Amino acid sequence: MKFVPCSFRKPKPTPPLGFGRYFTDYMFTMRYREGEGWLEPSIEPNVPVSFDLATSIFHYAQGVFEGMKAFRQPDGGLAVFRPDENWKRMNNSADRLCIPRFDEGVAEEGLEELLRLEREWVPEGKGTALYIRPAIIATRPALGVHASSEYLFFIILSPVGNYFGHGAEPTKLLVEENFCRAFPGGTGEAKCLGNYAVSLKAGELAARQGFDQVLWLDAAERKYVEEVGSMNIFFVIGGEVVTPALVGSILPGITRKSCLSILRERGYRVSERRISIDEVAEAAESGALEEAFGTGTAAVVAPVGLIRYRGHDYVVRDGKAGKITQMLYDTVTGIQNGLLPDPHGWRRRVL
Ligand code: COI
Repeated sequence: MKFVPCSFRKPKPTPPLGFGRYFTDYMFTMRYREGEGWLEPSIEPNVPVSFDLATSIFHYAQGVFEGMKAFRQPDGGLAVFRPDENWKRMNNSADRLCIPRFDEGVAEEGLEELLRLEREWVPEGKGTALYIRPAIIATRPALGVHASSEYLFFIILSPVGNYFGHGAEPTKLLVEENFCRAFPGGTGEAKCLGNYAVSLKAGELAARQGFDQVLWLDAAERKYVEEVGSMNIFFVIGGEVVTPALVGSILPGITRKSCLSILRERGYRVSERRISIDEVAEAAESGALEEAFGTGTAAVVAPVGLIRYRGHDYVVRDGKAGKITQMLYDTVTGIQNGLLPDPHGWRRRVL
């Protein structure tokens, strides 16, 4: 792998780190050219790069990304949580966007080398991690609407704390009935740039009313709960843990998958099925809605304290985290931080 040394060292940030505000000194890159494949895996200084303004990523958003985290271990080492799952999902997203697949082994090797080089940037405090952002963007300067013949794959790193600005406080969600994030046959299950751009308007309107995020409904009927945009969503209703089934318009979250495994192993009644917003509202009214929480790499396992739907505020558990939410948070973070055994082999040691 090519290595280009840095002539600078950025100062390390002090807490609170927030999310995605600081970036380390180095990045990993590789480039694709039609007829040649993915070439030139390199570690180089993370400095601004310039592109022709005709570059297709700026016009047609042919790009995908991922989110992972590296965690400090009790022995001073470093581990990444389930990176193989992220590489697999990234290649699936790439396929959907007509981006050529990459070699997952090369990406993993690049990531591990980058992490070893940047190990000093992994924060130490509770709830912190080194966030890993791999992405692929179309880099050919051309305005015709077709797949690019050139791409840049990169990985940048960011020391992070809590995703939501308010610490571990339960989140407030606004059910969105006008805009939609994804639709049948669309790109909802791919982690592609456009999915996030379309969510911004609703997110901004919700934030102005004091909400953290919107809860998206299905596009066809505006009836079934889908996801939150930065998290998958779970409800505990009358003892059953329910999360929307992956119907094509929902991101197949890796924290979601991990939580489902933990719940099933511990004997909880779990279902992945369609769940209507009316079912959630009725459960909240009758007292059957015991817990609600979101899962995601950035969000981890985040309790939901309030859901507003059609002007009515449904408060979940008096706005406090429930037992199952807390158990999942403790188990997932315990495995990530090396404080609990790792029976599934989810921790990938890098150091
Ligand atoms: C993640 O959880 O890694 C995400 O990608 C969600 C968001 C920060 C875009």
